[in-house]
Amino acid sequence: MVLSLGVFLILFTTFLYLLHYVVRGGRKGELIDKIPGPYAWPFIGNIGMFMVCPEELWNLSRKLNKEYYPINRIWSVKVPVINVYHPDDVEALLSNIKHIEKSLLYNFLHPWLNAGLLTSKGEKWHDRRKILTPAFHFNVLRQFVPIFVEQSEKLVKSICLESDEKVYDIVPLLHNFTLNSICETAMGTSFDQEHDVKDEYRSCVSRMGGITLHRLTRPWLHMDWSFKWSQMFKDQVEALKVLHGFSTKIIKERKQYHEETGGRYLKGLGFETGSNVYGFEGEGFVKGKRRLAMLDLLISASKQNANIDDEGIREEVDTFIFEGHDTTAMALAFTLLLLAENKEAQDKARAEVDDKFDESEEGKLTLKDIQSLVYLERCIKESLRLFPSVPFISRHVSEELRLKNYTVPGGSIVHVHIFDVHRDPNFWPDPLVFDPDRFLPDQVQGRHPFAFVPFSAGPRNCIGQKFAMLELKSLIGYFLRTFYFEPVMSSSEVRIQPDLVLRPITPIRVKLVKRSHD
Ligand code: HEM
Ligand SMILES: *[C@@H]1O[C@H](CO)[C@@H](O)[C@H](O)[C@H]1NC(C)=O
Ligand SMILES: *[C@@H]1O[C@H](CO)[C@@H](O)[C@H](O)[C@H]1NC(C)=O
Ligand SMILES: *[C@@H]1O[C@H](CO)[C@@H](O)[C@H](O)[C@H]1NC(C)=O
Repeated sequence: MVLSLGVFLILFTTFLYLLHYVVRGGRKGELIDKIPGPYAWPFIGNIGMFMVCPEELWNLSRKLNKEYYPINRIWSVKVPVINVYHPDDVEALLSNIKHIEKSLLYNFLHPWLNAGLLTSKGEKWHDRRKILTPAFHFNVLRQFVPIFVEQSEKLVKSICLESDEKVYDIVPLLHNFTLNSICETAMGTSFDQEHDVKDEYRSCVSRMGGITLHRLTRPWLHMDWSFKWSQMFKDQVEALKVLHGFSTKIIKERKQYHEETGGRYLKGLGFETGSNVYGFEGEGFVKGKRRLAMLDLLISASKQNANIDDEGIREEVDTFIFEGHDTTAMALAFTLLLLAENKEAQDKARAEVDDKFDESEEGKLTLKDIQSLVYLERCIKESLRLFPSVPFISRHVSEELRLKNYTVPGGSIVHVHIFDVHRDPNFWPDPLVFDPDRFLPDQVQGRHPFAFVPFSAGPRNCIGQKFAMLELKSLIGYFLRTFYFEPVMSSSEVRIQPDLVLRPITPIRVKLVKRSHD
């Protein structure tokens, strides 16, 4: 008995070693092992060190990237993972049309987002990007400005009603704002009344983020069949019920609206098969009280048999609600925190905003006003540099990829650590100092174009970046007009744990003091 167990163990170990040499030997292993990195154990590689809580994982990533600057590799059992954070390497990866396929990490999002724009690949991604790009055309975005303004006014009003000065945990307030904004702009649906639904939705979003990251660092949970046996799978099923319930309701409501109006508003919104033209130039876009939204384009495209059906609509709705609200809420929170901490920048941004309000007849910011808030825009960019809402992205490299100093073999995963790119002292002197003037035109000119990539870059960049900027500038404009921001904590105290966005563990607190306009 003991003997046969012994024999079994010896055979099993020999088998693992053989497997190990098959995987790590050969050209692939050789190329990978040229790249520096921590000692990788036979067979299991480096997974031992990554099975820690999310915050430690975040700290460990920072430490590794510093220690092995400007690139490193780890082995996750049989898959090599290359960590990239030098602008030259970021450029090599992101600007190459061959390498636009997302990695394994995004597969864990499939039960939720299915294969929407963020997670899909190949032809499907191309088709969808083509259908959706016109929805982010300037002529469409400009129609959203009154919604951003209205939502901004609502938020500052509700804060004013509460108190003249008070310390707020701003993240929930901002999440509420961005979720309202994306639902009303992109989905044409107002969720103002339904607080419980939204709260539940938000908590499920961060739960899915946590599950995704947990799976990434635990290879035995990578396969769906093994994941099914874990407690987390049950959590996921619960969360998905809520998430999909939310998007299904939005679609249903919108379709009903078009039925009730006899499809009148979808007419002229022709997604003409093949020509890819939407007819919403100028006035044609706003009809009646409700504006036409991204969701209408999808519904219209599906009616015309473009490559999208009901399931396709839902995956895009799930994708856009998530990508369109969580990222912007984080950007708002960090910008407000940094402005509270940097009084001089805050005053300067406020002076610029006050000018616009003082000139305005209706006391409302217009598209033109928002576009001309150039100093505020620099403040937002500087916040996105220090706290990029999406701190890292990940690609599956199927063909060999030539980086600056190394070659990454096909079949590898490449992580781009946007967070570390943005804090590299070789490109950003005194990286921890908040200095909006880094984004003055002449400063930008002299810098590596891939040293600042909060919205990623290349063919798979963020489709919503202009949308995001308009929304951010609108809300912060109204905040500057209405309050002074005073610091009660320092941005360096914020503890972070990564999930799909840069999530603070601790509340972000800012004191808002109402200004008196007289
Ligand atoms: C400050 C706000 C935002 C930041 C920092 C941000 C950042 C990013 C980044 C880094 C990516 C690349 C992701 C990857 O390669 O895995 C991305 C993709 C994407 N973003 Fe954003 N985003 C923001 C706001 C938005 C908004 C408001 C929307 C929608 C209205 C949006 C929709 C998307 C979509 C659909 C993709 C996938 C595009 C594709 O793969 O073709 N984002 N975003
Ligand atoms: C991560 O690093 C931060 C800042 O250095 C520290 O405060 C925190 O305790 C660390 N967390 C863990 C879990 O190691
Ligand atoms: C969320 O926003 C809505 C609409 O502006 C508002 O009525 C509601 O009070 C807000 N809820 C919270 C918790 O701030
Ligand atoms: C490439 O190697 C050179 C020389 O060792 C080094 O200075 C540079 O930072 C490296 N660049 C990248 C992106 O690895």
